[in-house]
Amino acid sequence: MSLSVLFVCLGNICRSPTAEGVFRERVQAAGLEDVIQIDSAGTGDWHLGKAPDQRMTRAAAKRGYDLSPLRARLVTPADMQQFDYVLAMDHANLRDLQAMLEGTPRGHLGLFLDFHPQRPLAEVPDPYYGGEAGFEQVLDLVESACDGLLAAVREQIS
Ligand code: 4NP
Repeated sequence: MSLSVLFVCLGNICRSPTAEGVFRERVQAAGLEDVIQIDSAGTGDWHLGKAPDQRMTRAAAKRGYDLSPLRARLVTPADMQQFDYVLAMDHANLRDLQAMLEGTPRGHLGLFLDFHPQRPLAEVPDPYYGGEAGFEQVLDLVESACDGLLAAVREQIS
């Protein structure tokens, strides 16, 4: 059995590439890289084809995650027919996804932080216009939510 996860934010240069990079690391550590496919995409088209934001890449690298190979792409209606989990970073992302939905999604369409074991916030705050602390907060939230997501996904594939 295989299973696929798509992380979605606005620009696909800060939050969703971080979720992709962290979840890839967790999935590899669990030896499940052949079973779980992972991608990320954005609802906005400003940064298509670009590498993640350098501030985000630097903060992630300090914790051992390499975001540098990732490139921004736009989410499409077809993504929601193809991925088993489509996980939005905030309510605006989720509303945009629901607005472009054609028919019913293949699997789970919802907020990423619903998988955070403590769920201190409902959304991953957009760090783009803020300072360094915002990028650390993204990493803190994403790391915990990835742990919860991996546990949920493991139950499904076991
Ligand atoms: P992201 O952050 O959605 O986490 O990738 C943003 C990146 C770029 C912009 C907004 C948010 N922007 O307005 O260009």
